[in-house]
Amino acid sequence: MTARKGIILAGGAGTRLHPVTLAVSKQLLPVYDKPMIYYPLSVLMLAGIREIAVITTPHDQEAFQRLLGDGSRWGLSFTWIVQPAPEGLAQAYLLAESFLDGAPSAMVLGDNLFFGHGLPELLARADARREGGTVFAYHVADPTRYGVLGFDDQGRASRIVEKPAEPPSSWAVTGLYFLDGTAPERAKALTPSARGELEIVSLLEGYLAEGALEVERMGRGFAWLDTGTHASLLDAGNFVRTLTERQGLRVGSPEEVAFRQGWIDAEALAARAAELRGTDYGAYLARLAEGRADVP
Ligand code: G1P
Repeated sequence: MTARKGIILAGGAGTRLHPVTLAVSKQLLPVYDKPMIYYPLSVLMLAGIREIAVITTPHDQEAFQRLLGDGSRWGLSFTWIVQPAPEGLAQAYLLAESFLDGAPSAMVLGDNLFFGHGLPELLARADARREGGTVFAYHVADPTRYGVLGFDDQGRASRIVEKPAEPPSSWAVTGLYFLDGTAPERAKALTPSARGELEIVSLLEGYLAEGALEVERMGRGFAWLDTGTHASLLDAGNFVRTLTERQGLRVGSPEEVAFRQGWIDAEALAARAAELRGTDYGAYLARLAEGRADVP
């Protein structure tokens, strides 16, 4: 079985967060104690994905490389791809076509945070589907800000609309897409929307029309956090802080996932902890490496 490959889309101008993102890419901003991109990266890793393309703007690529390296410290391999202009989420599949080389993929948006009990199982179910695609739907208070699903009488997804003025449901499509190896071919057939973008919902509509789109609902036990506004970014940081301080466990740590997946050993983890010494995060990784994660 061809291993599923990952894509993190971290392009975009982040205009809604100006002036904060005038000089720094949105996905490099902190969400409490980690750069934002650590969280979606950890999700791909939880799905067992080790070959990952990171798509950035031309001018931000170097900063991401400084942060992430080549992936080896987490037992991963990164491929770096530039998106010259933000021309839509579906464009990622064109840019990543040779990287994917026919493999199925999981694309995550670099500003999406997921948290919830049972997430690895949910991801494993999506990974097991080798034909068609899977999207994850989340009940939101304001669906007009997202891609939104409509359902038929039997509760099956029947349509998908981007930022609808009159949403057909409260179920938003989150920024995590598991698609089969046909995604790049399908993306080639798309034409730009009125706002000049290759829309992800248009790509998903193709799958939906063929009955090839599975919808996994992330129920109320999950948190899908948004970082699209200053307020929601701050809320996401506070959410992570609350969990971290209450549980004494970390959310969205690539080091911890790599270690628990067996991709790096205790020695490598301890070395990484040493690099981060003087921080609570480094101390946490050191305890994990010593097998004392349960000890404060
Ligand atoms: C994009 C997608 C939208 C999806 C959302 C999830 O919107 O176009 O369908 O629901 O991501 O974060 P954007 O955040 O780029 O406005």
